[in-house]
Amino acid sequence: MYKIIHNKDIIRQIKQKGFCIIKNLYSKKEINQIKSNLLEILHYIHPKKIKDLNKKYFQIKKFDKKLKGNFFDLLSHEISTLNILHREELVDLVRKYFKTKVVFSGRPAIHIHDSDNDRFLEPHQELNQFARDFLFVWAPLFDANKEKGSLIVYEKSHLRGYYSHNNDNKLGSSHLKKEIYSKFKKIEIEIKSGDAVMLHSALIHGTLPTKKKGFVKYVMVERFNPLKKIPYLQNSKNPIKIPHFGVDYNQISD
Ligand SMILES: [Fe+2]
Repeated sequence: MYKIIHNKDIIRQIKQKGFCIIKNLYSKKEINQIKSNLLEILHYIHPKKIKDLNKKYFQIKKFDKKLKGNFFDLLSHEISTLNILHREELVDLVRKYFKTKVVFSGRPAIHIHDSDNDRFLEPHQELNQFARDFLFVWAPLFDANKEKGSLIVYEKSHLRGYYSHNNDNKLGSSHLKKEIYSKFKKIEIEIKSGDAVMLHSALIHGTLPTKKKGFVKYVMVERFNPLKKIPYLQNSKNPIKIPHFGVDYNQISD
């Protein structure tokens, strides 16, 4: 079984740069198990036998867009995915980072970005969780690179706190204006499947479009929330998740 043996180094990198690449976090066997489960769920929606996961996905998208969305919704409840996302060593890393024994699962999911690119995300910080600050894991099921779409991060942007976000784009997704993120050094992260990126919630990041036609980028993600800076436990009027808008994130403290 894989063990994260360089906890101190990972923590130091996240504190300094805002992110860290964890090599070989997941074995081929684990990744293949998740891919095979995805295929099985898609076959359940429509039994036409297509073995290629990308082709099968587009077949379902064409067959019924709503059911494709339902497929996405149920993925966050798939136990094999949850098991590897919640691996003890990973959770332990979060406990050590925030110096707490208690960690909450914020929102596990498998994000899907296909080459139609109707969902790639503009630079933003991670908001709308239980805790103000948390660690976010991003682990692609296929290699992430220029062709297949990757993650972009703005190095050290987490050191400047949280900025107020806008939602005036086509998707209505929470994002930042260029004059904010262009101040920081942009890094395109290329990693192999099995590797993961761990990043601080305040680090500005976004996704690059998936250029390769007919390709679908699947990324396992989780937001590990520590028992720190949780407004919901401080005032009974507060909602369970900190709203995207109308809250000064930098004022939230313990
Ligand atoms: Fe994000």
